[in-house]
Amino acid sequence: MKSRKTVVSIIGLGYVGLCTAVTFASRGIKIIGIDVDRKRVEQLQKGEAPIYEPKLDGMLKIAVKKGLFQASDDISLVSSSGVIFLTVGTPSQGDGSIDLTFIKNATDSLGKSLRQDDDYHVVVVKSTVVPGTTNNVVRPSLEDSSRKKIGKELGLCANPEFLREGTAIEDALNPDKIVIGSNDKKSTEELTKLYRRFYGSRRSSLFTMSPEAAELVKYASNAFLATKVSFINTIANIAERTSGVDVGVIADAIGSDPRIGKLFLKAGPGYGGSCFHKDLQALINYSQRRGYDPLLLHATEEINENQAMRVVDIAEELLGSLLEKRVSVLGLAFKRDTDDIREAPSLRVIEKLKQRGAQVVAYDPMAMPNTKAKLGDSIDYARNILGAIEGTDCAVIMTEWDAIRKLKAKDFKEYMRSPNVVDARKVYDPKAFRQIRYAAVGLGPLVPDCE
Ligand SMILES: NC(=O)c1ccc[n+]([C@@H]2O[C@H](COP(=O)([O-])OP(=O)(O)OC[C@H]3O[C@@H](n4cnc5c(N)ncnc54)[C@H](O)[C@@H]3O)[C@@H](O)[C@H]2O)c1
Repeated sequence: MKSRKTVVSIIGLGYVGLCTAVTFASRGIKIIGIDVDRKRVEQLQKGEAPIYEPKLDGMLKIAVKKGLFQASDDISLVSSSGVIFLTVGTPSQGDGSIDLTFIKNATDSLGKSLRQDDDYHVVVVKSTVVPGTTNNVVRPSLEDSSRKKIGKELGLCANPEFLREGTAIEDALNPDKIVIGSNDKKSTEELTKLYRRFYGSRRSSLFTMSPEAAELVKYASNAFLATKVSFINTIANIAERTSGVDVGVIADAIGSDPRIGKLFLKAGPGYGGSCFHKDLQALINYSQRRGYDPLLLHATEEINENQAMRVVDIAEELLGSLLEKRVSVLGLAFKRDTDDIREAPSLRVIEKLKQRGAQVVAYDPMAMPNTKAKLGDSIDYARNILGAIEGTDCAVIMTEWDAIRKLKAKDFKEYMRSPNVVDARKVYDPKAFRQIRYAAVGLGPLVPDCE
């Protein structure tokens, strides 16, 4: 490869594409970023991040200033790069399968733009796609549109992404693994060379395999993590029925066993975000189509859906009835440090609160614009956190933002009409909340039961 191969293209500048772009740029690799969303491209050209992610804005500004990040909607620019990542969305369809429209469109325009180009490029599918997509969808589409042979004139790899929103930059800089699936050695070598250039001696474990195996690694990973969340929520529901038990204590104890591990053992309102539900549904659909119904994954999803109901039940148990009660929902993003509300448990809880007749007033430090765009005027929005609890009958803690963590029992007592707190994230110390009515997911009755 020539020296210009340290120019990398990224097609699709959402959470994954953009965070990948700025981290590459931070190590001196020039990025051509392509997106079909003109408004997004214009914002990026000015060095403004269209999404919230810690460190992203600062790193983007530096990359643009140094000329290491160029955003455009002109896909022909990618021909100057050796490695071209596809990071477009793969949303869920009604039956759980993934919608490959963005992948197909991006692949088709990419192939056409490479038609007249004689250089070798490796196309890397970083989007999450079910096993077989790289070989059976991307490959023929790319060969057809570029009129080039994969494995000869073009390379092709599946290289799933494991970064987490909220810590995406950190994760992209320090991944625990790199998974590369390919049919030919040259594609793997070229991509490995790029990662070696990027990570240097700090390179994490590299796993090379078939594209199908790489695609399945991503689904297996998310299915396992989601199942871990539903598992601890199951234990939380048992703990709530057991006097003197806090599920956090159970999680700490079992998590100390290295076979179990501490992470993803936090009971709460259930998982959310753009990936877990979508990926589980896709894996269930993929598996069913091949004659196997994955019961464990159905249970994981059902437990998750019920967990939002459980949060609302706790609120109802505290208040007696939710009818015409004013309820603050504190935190809307599916986790802290992101503005993403896709599949956020807060949305499920809000819907159920409304079904039971409550009036909802919501607040989030970052996710208000996204929530307003989705829910419109079906709920009220507070300007700040104290405004959100003022005059309400119940506060439901849905995201573990620092601003929410910092509230004290006396704040709820002073501002609320009747101070009832449902701590769905377990951010407060129950002992410090004795002066108000407080309940948390996974917290058993404080009075011993009589059995
Ligand atoms: N968000 C995550 O935390 C995460 C983590 C790991 C993997 N993934 C996977 O990565 C993929 C991308 O996820 P995301 O959250 O970044 O999506 P996103 O919706 O935030 O961004 C996708 C971007 O692709 C752009 N796009 C669509 N069609 C295009 C085309 N033809 N050409 C150029 N740009 C196009 C869209 O305008 C958008 O900006 C998905 O498959 C997702 O499952 C996401």
